[in-house]
Formats: sequence, C-alpha cells, structure tokens
Amino acid sequence: MQADIGLIGLAVMGENLVLNMESKGFNVAVFNRSVEVVEKFEAGRGKGKNFVFAKTLEEFVGSLKRPRKAQIMVKAGAPVDAVIAQLAPLFEAGDIIIDGGNSLWTDTQRREKALKEKGIHYFGVGVSGGEEGALKGPSIMPGGSKEGWQALAPIYQKIAAVVEGEPCCRHMGPDGAGHYVKMAHNGIEYGDMQLICEAYAILKAALNPTADEFAEIFTEWNKTDLDSFLIEITSKIFKRKDPETGKPIVDIVLDKAGQKGTGKWTVGHAVEMGVPLSVIGSAVDARILSSLKDERVAASKVLKGPETKPYTGDRAALIAAVRDALYASKIMSYAQGMVQLGHASELYNWGLNFGDIASIWRGGCIIRARFLNRITEAYRKNPGLKNLMLDPFFADALQRTQPGWRKAVQTAIEYGVASPSFSSALSYFDSYRSANLPANLLQAQRDFFGAHTFERVDKPGIFHADWYS
Ligand code: 6PG
Repeated sequence: MQADIGLIGLAVMGENLVLNMESKGFNVAVFNRSVEVVEKFEAGRGKGKNFVFAKTLEEFVGSLKRPRKAQIMVKAGAPVDAVIAQLAPLFEAGDIIIDGGNSLWTDTQRREKALKEKGIHYFGVGVSGGEEGALKGPSIMPGGSKEGWQALAPIYQKIAAVVEGEPCCRHMGPDGAGHYVKMAHNGIEYGDMQLICEAYAILKAALNPTADEFAEIFTEWNKTDLDSFLIEITSKIFKRKDPETGKPIVDIVLDKAGQKGTGKWTVGHAVEMGVPLSVIGSAVDARILSSLKDERVAASKVLKGPETKPYTGDRAALIAAVRDALYASKIMSYAQGMVQLGHASELYNWGLNFGDIASIWRGGCIIRARFLNRITEAYRKNPGLKNLMLDPFFADALQRTQPGWRKAVQTAIEYGVASPSFSSALSYFDSYRSANLPANLLQAQRDFFGAHTFERVDKPGIFHADWYS
C-alpha cells in the first residue's frame, strides 16, 4: 500500500490526527522513534485500518506517494531538528516536510530556508483543537510555499473542522506564517481564559454564587455574543464534582497556572515590534503571579485589601455588567492580536489575510466562537481595517457594553479583586479613543532631562526648551 501522507510521532495528537486522516479516506504511514509505540497502535486503535505501520524510517519513506509528504508531531525545539536531520537525506526535491507542533516561527523560518536549498518544501502548520479536535476536525493554519500547499490542501482541508461549508484551514502564507498565526491564536487563548477567570473572580467576591449557579451563569452567557468553546467548557467545569470529596472539582484545583510558552512568545514579539498587547500581556502576567502560590499566601497575611461589605445592589444587573465587561475586553484582545498579526505580516512580507484567519478560527480550535463570524465579516468587508474597534459592528458593541464594563472594573476595585485583563482592556479602549493623552507631559520630561526634543501643537518643527535657566 502506498500512503498519501506519513506522520512521525504517535503521541495522542499524532494518533488522533492520523485516525482523522484515515477516516477521511487517506492511506497514512505512521512511524515513531520507539517501534513499540507503532506496534501498540497497530494492535490497538489502528487495527484493521488503512495504515502503513512502518518499523523503520526507510520503510516509512519508501511507502510514501510522490511528492512525499511527512508530518512531524514531536515536541517543539531540538526534537524537530533531530527528526528533520534523519528524514531530509531520504527525501528528494519536491517532497514536503511538515511540522505540526507549536514551534517558534523563527525556527520554522530557519528550517524552511535550509531545506529549500535541497528543493524540499518545509511547512510549519499550526494545529488547534486539542486531542478531540485532532480526531474530529481541528483548525489548521499552514505556512509554506504555494506549490507545496497545492499538494497538501486536499488532505488538510478534508480533515479540518467545517463551518458554514468552509473548511477551517487556509493557506496562511510562506515560511513561518502558519506557526506565527498559531502562536497568536494561543496568545488570544490566554487572553480569553484569563478574562473568563476574572469574570468568575469578581462575581465570586461580590455575589459568591455556588458552583451550580456559576454553571447556570455561563450556560446563559453561552447563548449570547459570548457563545464559544471556552465559555461552554467553563459551564461544564462548574458542574463537575470530585468523586473523592463530592466537592465541585473547580474548588479543589490548586490556583497555580502552568504555561508552555506560546503566550510569552506572543507578548515578547509584540513588544519587539512596538505593538500594544496589554490584554494578552496581562494574562501571561496573571499566570506567572498565580504560580507564586507560597509568596502570595505569605503576603496575604501581611497586606490587607479593602474592607468589603456584602453586595447590596441588583445581582442580575451585576452579572450582566460582568458579562458585558467580558465581551468588550474580548473584543480588545482580538483587536490587539489582529494588529500584531498585521505588523508581523508587514515585517516578514507574508501577505496575511485577516478575514481568512478569523474564518478558520470559527471552528475546530480552542478559541472558536460565534463572534469570529463578525470578525471575518469585518475584515472581508474592509481588509485594510486599522483596528477592529473601528468596525461599525464592534464600535456599536463597545458603546453598548461600556457602562457594564466600567461597573465590573469598579466592582473589582471596590472588592480588591485583581482584574488585570478587564482593566488593561478598558485602558486600551480609553487610550485608543482619546484624541489627547498625557504624553505631552512625558515629552516635556524627556526633553527636560535628556534634551530629547518635542513637537509643538501650534507649529511644525522639532523643539527643545531651556528648562534649566
Ligand atoms: C490548541 C492549544 C494547544 C495547547 C497549548 C496550551 O490550540 O489546541 O492552544 O496548542 O493546549 O499548548 O498552552 P499552555 O500550556 O501554554 O497553556
């Protein structure tokens, strides 16, 4: 049997992806560094299916139809280079190597350049949706040559999630574009998750709902503009009880967040390009602060917050305000993420299409959400849109949600609850919509101590004031 595509690295994501490919009618070759993993798959989930269970890399390569296509699904970093070093000598010009992990886009650019010299097409492909998505239809963000994409499109577009008849997979651009878009997706994922956590924290401090009540709140929110995978799983999380203690699982999970690194990469590069990414930045910081559990416990005994009183206002109105704050902050986070993608696209000459990006995030991926339809429309209508906030639909939404947004942040402040992402989102909104900012004073300070000069509001030119006379 000749295989349409091969996959190296049979961990859960790899296994699920090949099962997805096979179920869509493709013959798939599989290989893993430890042969036992292949044997286990052959005897287990792969049994009786159209797979080539390769026991050596030579057998794997020999089974692939030309142009050969091999997807690597191993840990990002050195393991990817190690697999390429073994695979590339067995591949010929025109063949395609794909990295489907969360690799750093600059690594992908480096690898693409090196393999191009041998005529091998190298693809950095972002795959989102976790284990379930990989099996049933992920969102796929491929980056690589147009020629290579023609050979890959029939496979990837068939295994991707489908929304309104469109596969959640489009060619993002050359070299590192796919991995960059996936990284930005993950940054937005960080923002979305933190915003949900802040909504939870504010409501908990002011109203103290039970886990079942929280489940109900999120179930209701999921019927609104907030309709999304992350809100849906949040409502499910609140319903789940710990079998050992009978308590809601959410109450026994330790409040220390982990992170593998894509959020930090996103923020780091935004800073390097001079793009404000405060919502995602604050979400990364919040994870870091949460991980300082021991320090926080010690500090909580020394540093006291405000005296709080039971909430006397209208409960339903506060829940609605927090909902609005979540939605508005989410718009800010996506607005910033899209600006970042625009800058990266210019920097690397990728020609990213924001309508396409938003459209393939509508299904399959972790950030999938109903409002991505609106973002898709906004960029399809106006590909040169400077900031998502300026699209009429979103400008209206921000106008409508603004009172609730401010009320939610005020409540957080009143109760001494940290709401870094709600607050930074609101500050971004207030800064961006301000014709005047206090940077006049800042420029004066710079000129005072460093003679850095300033421009004037009343005439053109560059000026320096005599501050010391
Ligand atoms: C996805 C996820 C996926 C993964 C991240 C989580 O799109 O399917 O983003 O890539 O869950 O690795 O990253 P953290 O460990 O940094 O939260």
